Amino acid sequence: MTMIAGVCMDNLKTNKILAGFLLAGLLAMGGGKIAEIFVPYQELEENAYPIEITQLADSGNNAAPVNQGPEPILAMLASADIDAGIKIAKKCSACHEFNADGKNKTGPMLWNIVDANMAMKEGFNYSGALASMGGTWDYNALNAFFYKPKAYVEGTKMNFAGLKKPSDRANLIAYLRSLSDAPAALPTQQEIDAESVRTD
Ligand code: HEC
Repeated sequence: MTMIAGVCMDNLKTNKILAGFLLAGLLAMGGGKIAEIFVPYQELEENAYPIEITQLADSGNNAAPVNQGPEPILAMLASADIDAGIKIAKKCSACHEFNADGKNKTGPMLWNIVDANMAMKEGFNYSGALASMGGTWDYNALNAFFYKPKAYVEGTKMNFAGLKKPSDRANLIAYLRSLSDAPAALPTQQEIDAESVRTD
């Protein structure tokens, strides 16, 4: 009898445990449903996160002419790949030296060129075209020059077709920026926003 009672007790226990598992499983599967019953779904009157869709005026047939100049690169400078820039600069090294005590060759030495005055490297015989530019080599000017040297400085004697890939120009310019004891500041957000590329 004790044995039987023992078995009965055991069965009862097992049953309880099984029931416990079953209930837990049901709750896990049906939790969502149960929640729905207690918290009825309500249609929101407005999107919780309004999504604004602004339509561009005159998009389509009247779209503005495509910018013929180089693509912007200012936003790319902070995270540009200087090592990739060093590789691009190999295309220039037939004519340019880059180190601090570099000499002028076919082209002027390029240490400290970012933000430098144009055509001012000592002892280099510049073309009249570049000598009369009168600006500084800021990031925008370098971007436009490297895109198409002969378009930006009409009549320049730099014989180089240009770099069509924006990332190539950004990496190269980031490398040139590093060639200085006091590298030029990175562009500010305002400058990035206002970046307008000159092609004249
Ligand atoms: C075939 C030779 C040649 C190659 C290749 C060349 N340059 Fe030049 N570069 C010149 C010459 C020559 C000038 C001077 C242009 C002038 O006086 O019109 C010059 C001028 C410049 C200037 C203006 C310097 C100043 O003092 O105002 C920069 C910047 C420059 N080059 C960068 C580069 C870079 C970067 C590359 C490679 C992507 C490159 N160049 C490739 C010959 C070259």
